[in-house]
Amino acid sequence: MSQKTPLSTASGIPIADNQNSVTAGARGPVLLQDFHMIEKLQHFNRERIPERVVHAKGSGAYGTFTVTHDVSAYTKAKLFGAVGKQTPTFARFSTVGGERGSADTARDPRGFALRFYTEEGNWDLVGNNTPVFFIKDAINFPDFIHTQKRDPQSNLKSPNRMFDFWSKAPESLHQVTILFSDRGTPDGYRHMDGFGSHTFSMINEKGERHYVKWHFKTQQGIQNLSAAEAERLSGVDPDYSQRDLFGAIAKGDFPRWDVQLQVATEAELAAWEVRTGWNPFDVTKVWPHADFPVMPVGVFELNRNPENYHAEVEQAAFSPANVVPGLGYSPDKMLQGRLFGYHDAQLYRVGTNHQHLPVNAARCPYHNHQRDGAMAIENGGSARNYATLEAAGSHPVGLGNGEPALALDGAAARHDGRGAEDDFSQAGNLFRILTAQAKQNLFDNLAAPLSEVDDEILQRQLGHFDRADPAYGAGVRAALKARA
Ligand code: HEM
Repeated sequence: MSQKTPLSTASGIPIADNQNSVTAGARGPVLLQDFHMIEKLQHFNRERIPERVVHAKGSGAYGTFTVTHDVSAYTKAKLFGAVGKQTPTFARFSTVGGERGSADTARDPRGFALRFYTEEGNWDLVGNNTPVFFIKDAINFPDFIHTQKRDPQSNLKSPNRMFDFWSKAPESLHQVTILFSDRGTPDGYRHMDGFGSHTFSMINEKGERHYVKWHFKTQQGIQNLSAAEAERLSGVDPDYSQRDLFGAIAKGDFPRWDVQLQVATEAELAAWEVRTGWNPFDVTKVWPHADFPVMPVGVFELNRNPENYHAEVEQAAFSPANVVPGLGYSPDKMLQGRLFGYHDAQLYRVGTNHQHLPVNAARCPYHNHQRDGAMAIENGGSARNYATLEAAGSHPVGLGNGEPALALDGAAARHDGRGAEDDFSQAGNLFRILTAQAKQNLFDNLAAPLSEVDDEILQRQLGHFDRADPAYGAGVRAALKARA
C-alpha cells in the first residue's frame, strides 16, 4: 500500500477527514453514522492475537540455504539435490519464557526456528541454540513451562518453582548447565549456534533410513554477554537482539551459519547405546562428536528483513511435523509430542487457515480437500473438495513413500525409566571442558537464583551437581557461601 494512496476505509472508500468525528453540533455527541470512526476503533480493539504460549518474544528474517556438499547418500529430499542448489528460507529466533515485551537478553534458551520453502513443501526445523532439552517426555512440558512462567498468586517469576522442578528432574541437569553457563546469555541472535536438538531421520533413494542430528555453526563466532551486561541491557535496551539482527541485515551484513549433520545407522546407534548406556533418541543427550563426527552440508544465510512484523513474524507458524519426502521423525518421545503441539497451538493462535498466510504458505503447488473456515483465502477454487477411495500407493512420490517400515516393540504402558538412566555423565563431561573462568561464571550464575530457594530444593539440586562432578557441587557451594 503506497503512502500516496488516499486514506480510505478498509473497504477502500476514500476518507475526507480523519481527525474530527461526526458530531451533532460542535460539542458532540458523536453520531453512529460515523462509520469510519467506528471501524477505526473496532479494528484497534482487535489488533492483538494471542502470543505464543512459549517463545513469545522473537525476531524473524528471510534468507537462503545453499547446498555445499552432497548428502544424497542419506536423503532424497530435493532441496539437497545438487551442490550449489538454493532454497528460500525464513527464520525466527526467540527467547522462551518471557512475554512478547520481555527483555531479549534474559537467561533463557534461544529458539532457532527455520523454514525451508522447498519444491516439495515447507520443511520446518524448529530447534534451539542448545543441543539438548530439559525434559524427555512431552507429558512433562506444560508443568515445566509453568515453572518458568509467573507464580499464579504473586505473578512473579520464581527461582523456587524453577529449581523445585529441575531438582526433581535430574535429566534437566545437562541443559541447566548450559543455561547457567555463558551460553545462557548469547550476544544477540547472530552470535549463537543452532541445533535441531532431536534425533531426526533421512530416507535415501534406495529406501534406507539413517538417523541424523542437525547443527548450525555461526560464522560470526560465538559471543556471549556476561550476566551483568545481560542484566544491564535488559533495562536499557530490552530489544537488543531484535535491534542487532534487523540492523545487521538492513546494512547488508548478512549473518551466516554452516549447516552440519551427524549421521548414524540404526545398527551404529544400537551399538553405541550398549557401549555408553545413552538412549540415542533421548533429547537430554548429545551424540558426542568423537563418536559421530559432523559433516558439512551447506550454508544458511539471512539476507532480507520482513516488511511487516505482525504479518510475517508474529503470524509465522512453524511446526516440527512439517518434513518433506526424504526427511523424517524418530522415536524420540518429546518429538512425538511436538508433532501434535504446534499446529494445534496455531489453529488457536493464528486461525484455521494459518497456512494460507504468505509467510506460511507453501511456495510450490499444493492441493488437498481441506476447505472453508475463517479467513479462507484461495480455498481450492473450483477444484473437487473430496477424495474417492484409491488403492494404497497411488501417489508414489508422496511423504513416507519408500520409507522402510520401522520395527517397534514393547508393551503399551506408561514406562518410567527415571532412576535407571544416566542423567549425570554428559553434564559432567560438559562441565569438565569449561575453562576455569567459565566454570566460575557457571557457579556464580547458579548461586544467584539458588540463594533464594528453599533449603530442601537447594540440597537436592546440589546433589545433582555433585553426581555430575564433585568439583561442580563444590564450586556452587563456594559461590553460595561468597554471597551469604
Ligand atoms: C514436548 C515438548 C514441547 C512442546 C509441547 C512445545 C510446544 C510449543 C508450542 C505450543 C509453541 C508455540 C507454537 C506457536 O504458537 O506457533 C512452541 C514454540 C517453539 N518451540 Fe516448542 N515445545 C516443546 C519442546 C521444544 C523443544 C525441545 C524445542 C527445541 C529443540 C522447542 C523449540 C521451539 C521454538 C524454537 C518455538 C518458537 C517457534 C517460532 O519461532 O515461532 N520446543 N513450542
